[in-house]
Amino acid sequence: MSKKIFIKTFGCQMNEYDSNRIADIAKKKDYVRTEDIKNIDCYVLNTCHIREKATEKVYHDIGRLKKNYKNKKKPIVLVTGCVAQAENEEMLKREPYIDAVVGPQAYHELPKILSKLKNNRKKINLTDFDVIQKFDKLNTIKNSDSNVSSFITIQEGCDKFCNFCVVPYTRGTEHSRSEKEIINEAKNLVSNGVKEITLLGQNVNAYNYSTSKRKIKLSDLIFELQDLKDLKRIRYTTSHPKDMTNDLIDCHKKVKKLMPFLHLPVQSGSNKILKNMNRKHTREEYLSTIRSLVKARPDITFSSDFIVGYPGETEKDFNDTLSLAKEVNFVNSFSFIYNPRPGTPASHLKEIDKETQKRRLIILQNLLEGIQIKENKKKVGKLKEALIENKMKNQTNYFGRIDNLTPVVVSNANEKDVGKIINVRIENYNRNTLFGVKENVESEVAA
Ligand code: SAM
Ligand code: SF4
Ligand code: F3S
Repeated sequence: MSKKIFIKTFGCQMNEYDSNRIADIAKKKDYVRTEDIKNIDCYVLNTCHIREKATEKVYHDIGRLKKNYKNKKKPIVLVTGCVAQAENEEMLKREPYIDAVVGPQAYHELPKILSKLKNNRKKINLTDFDVIQKFDKLNTIKNSDSNVSSFITIQEGCDKFCNFCVVPYTRGTEHSRSEKEIINEAKNLVSNGVKEITLLGQNVNAYNYSTSKRKIKLSDLIFELQDLKDLKRIRYTTSHPKDMTNDLIDCHKKVKKLMPFLHLPVQSGSNKILKNMNRKHTREEYLSTIRSLVKARPDITFSSDFIVGYPGETEKDFNDTLSLAKEVNFVNSFSFIYNPRPGTPASHLKEIDKETQKRRLIILQNLLEGIQIKENKKKVGKLKEALIENKMKNQTNYFGRIDNLTPVVVSNANEKDVGKIINVRIENYNRNTLFGVKENVESEVAA
């Protein structure tokens, strides 16, 4: 009889992708993924280390699990992801209920780990960096995703070392996956029914893979992907402003399937703060990249990440961030109060006071929210193309996304529309979502 595995995911899209791959690997060991935590044989917490209290959350979740299984057979408990990488041995010592900590570079070892733990509950710590092995070995396990929209990790790790960020320490240095494997995975996903692929990487636009004959960049991959007939939309995330090269910008002009939307984290609008963050780009360079992208694709829109209250941020620095946000008119954004992360260079700097940080976050979020609402309101009455992803739970409505990723709820779509791009007349909106009705039949994006 097959066993049951429950996987809880925190953090970024790469963790989401990794969780799906963990499920694919476990399937080979006869585990079926379940959403019901009550009767499981294996529990996986795929963790994120970007926020404060991430580690505490892990112990909290495991504490709850422990209570649930007090009178039952204990499941195998694995902690994976960036907290596992950062805390490793410490976690095994502090919480004996954990059987193994497995870093993001060691998922290919999961079949062995599961076999070992089945016979013997000796603790396992696999947190060495070996991205090459991981990519090579994971390639042999087919990505079984068949959702309308799916991810492919093409690059992992980061060499940028922003002073506030843990990612270079938890994901290692930049490593790109082979072009052949990526295209094979894309073909496989498309044959599973996937219509939209988002290429993932911590610095996806730093993708760089060399064969004996040529150097392959992200723009080359996008050109190759556009030839997959049944693939309708291509996206990539997350990009670093410094790696927005001309060939990539040019792709936005030439490849119709590449969606006119880009998440381009800026963090701050102040040159002084950008320098102190070690972001490797100035405000002017960022804005110049935005202008080039708009020139290449006039309908393109942007989203971003911001950090407010970074050490040394003055009112003037903060105002520079506000003015940049207004200038670019981001349609959607994430903003965070600076959070000192253990082991990062910025964690040694003197922090500014909490009240100022909170006040600035509210001001920035109000501004960003205002832009988002204004942009959504502008769409009322307009016809937008939406890729329909699924029927909504317990509803007759269908869920889709327009070109800039804004969700749209469609009241009169049907099962045949799933996986198709349909025209939706927008009738209403709120901050995050559009509401509309289907008009016409399918309108295919030009190949
Ligand atoms: N690689 C991307 C980039 O170049 O910005 C994003 C990586 S990170 C996973 C996602 C976001 O978390 C960052 O863009 C940043 O805004 C935020 N973040 C990272 N470290 C942070 C910290 N110490 N405090 C607050 N926010 C942080
Ligand atoms: Fe972190 Fe900076 Fe690398 Fe992004 S570019 S992952 S923010 S170090
Ligand atoms: Fe979090 Fe690691 Fe992603 S720290 S944001 S899960 S790379």
